Amino acid sequence: MSDFPRTVQFMGLNEPIRWEGSTPELEIEGEIPAEIQGAFFRAVPDPAHVPFVENDVLLSADGMVSRILIKDGKVSHDCRYVHTARWQAEHEAGRALFGRYRNPFTDDPSVEGVDRTVSNTTPVWHAGKLYLTKEDGRAYRVDPHTLETLGSWDFDGALKSETMTAHVRIDPETKEMFFFGYEADGLASKNIAYCVVDPQGNLVSEQSFDAPYCSMMHDFAISEKYALFPVFPTTSDIDVLKEGGPHWIHHQDWDSWIGVVPRGGSVEDVRWFRGPKGVHVYHIVNAFDEGGKVHIDMCQSDSNAFGFIREDSGITIPQHELGGGLVRWTLDMDGDSEEAEVAVIGPPGDLPRVRDADMGRPYAMAWYGTIDPEGPPPLMGGPVGIAFTALLAFDPARGVVGGYTVPPMHAIHEPVHVPSSQEGHGGWLVATADRMNGPDDYDSELWIFEADAIGKGPIASAKFPERIKPQVHGWWVPLADYEAAKA
Ligand SMILES: [Fe+2]
Repeated sequence: MSDFPRTVQFMGLNEPIRWEGSTPELEIEGEIPAEIQGAFFRAVPDPAHVPFVENDVLLSADGMVSRILIKDGKVSHDCRYVHTARWQAEHEAGRALFGRYRNPFTDDPSVEGVDRTVSNTTPVWHAGKLYLTKEDGRAYRVDPHTLETLGSWDFDGALKSETMTAHVRIDPETKEMFFFGYEADGLASKNIAYCVVDPQGNLVSEQSFDAPYCSMMHDFAISEKYALFPVFPTTSDIDVLKEGGPHWIHHQDWDSWIGVVPRGGSVEDVRWFRGPKGVHVYHIVNAFDEGGKVHIDMCQSDSNAFGFIREDSGITIPQHELGGGLVRWTLDMDGDSEEAEVAVIGPPGDLPRVRDADMGRPYAMAWYGTIDPEGPPPLMGGPVGIAFTALLAFDPARGVVGGYTVPPMHAIHEPVHVPSSQEGHGGWLVATADRMNGPDDYDSELWIFEADAIGKGPIASAKFPERIKPQVHGWWVPLADYEAAKA
C-alpha cells in the first residue's frame, strides 16, 4: 500500500509513478503518417515525496517534463523531473518540506523564502526556448534535448511579475507571445501583469493593473485587437493563508468579469464587462473580433470544477451534478453597456485545442475532452477525479461535428494538433490514453487521429512499455523547430 493519501488526488491515474527514464523505441500499431514529425512535450505532475499534509492535491505535485519524439515513423519517450528550487530543496532533505497547496505559511521553516512553484502545468515553446510553467511562479527553462533544467526564467532580468501564467497566447502572424501573471506582486493580491514577448524571445512590454478582486486567473485570450483577462469568483485572502487555510475560496454570489485591454495599447484603457454570478472557467477555447464586438468562447461551469475547492468553500454540488457548457461571451466595444452577452454554444467539456494558426481569429474547428453520458464509466484521474472518455470536434457555425468515445476501461487526455502542409487536409490530433487492466494496473498508449475524422478512432498508436502519467497540458513542436533549437 502506498504511503500517499488514499484520496482521488493520489489514486487511479493520479497514483504517483515517479518514473524518470528513456525509452528509445516504442512498439507501433498501424502506420504513423510521414508528415507527423516533431516533439510532443507534456507537463506531468508527479510528487517526488510523500506529502506531510493530508489534504494535499495533484496540483501541488512536482513537475516532470515528458518528451514524446516522433521522427521517421518511430516514437521515443523521455521523462525527467524539472529541478525547481523546491524539487532541489526536498531532494537534498530526502523528504517533503512544502506544505499545503499554495500556502507558504504551512511550509517547513527551513524553506522560508524558497521559490515554491512546481512547473507542472504547461510546456511552452517560444523563440526556440522551452519553458515549464505554473501560474503561481515564474517559468523554468528546460533544455529541450537533454531535458536538463536551466533555471528560473526572468527574461534576462526584465520581468518584474512574480508569476507567469501557464496559458500564454502566441499570435500566428506576428509570432509575439502574450502572457500575464496574477497575484503578480504577492500572495492574494489583485495585481495583474500584462506582458508581451517579441519573436526573438525578449520581454518588450510589461504593464500592471488591478482586477476587481484577487481571482484564480488560469487562462486568458487574445484577439487581433485585444487582450482579454477573465476574472471568476474563486478568490484568495491573505489572512486565511496566514492561518494555514486554503488558497482558494469560491463565491457563488460574486459577479464574474472580463477585462479588455487594447492588445498593443495601455492597461489604463481596460474595460470590464460583467458576466453571470458564481460561474467559473479554467480554459478558454479562443477569442476573435467581429466588427466592434469581441467574442470569447470558454468551457464554463456553474461553480469551480475542482471538488476540493468547492469543499473548502462550503459548496455541496457533487461533481456529476455540476452543470456547464461551452459558452460564448460577446462584448460590445462600441456600446456603453458593461454587461457581457452570454450564450451556450456547445456541450460541456474542457481542455480545448484550436489550430495554432487560428489563435485570436475566427476559427472553424476546436477539439475538447468530455464525458460521454452514453459511454463507459470514466476512470479515476485528474484534478477533478474523473478522466475524459471522449473527444469532441466542434465547429462554432455548426456545433458538434464529430466525436470519438473510448472503449470501456479507457481514458483519453488532452490532444495536441499537428498541422498538415497538404491543401485541404485538417492535420492530426495526437494524445495519450490509458487502459485499466485491474486495480493500479494501467497500460499507456499514444493515439493518432485524423483531426477532420476523429470518429474513425485512432489510425495509428504506439505502446509505452512503462506506464506513463497523464499530463496537465502538452505542446507540439515541429521537428525543424525542435532540431534548430540545438544551435
Ligand atoms: Fe490549464
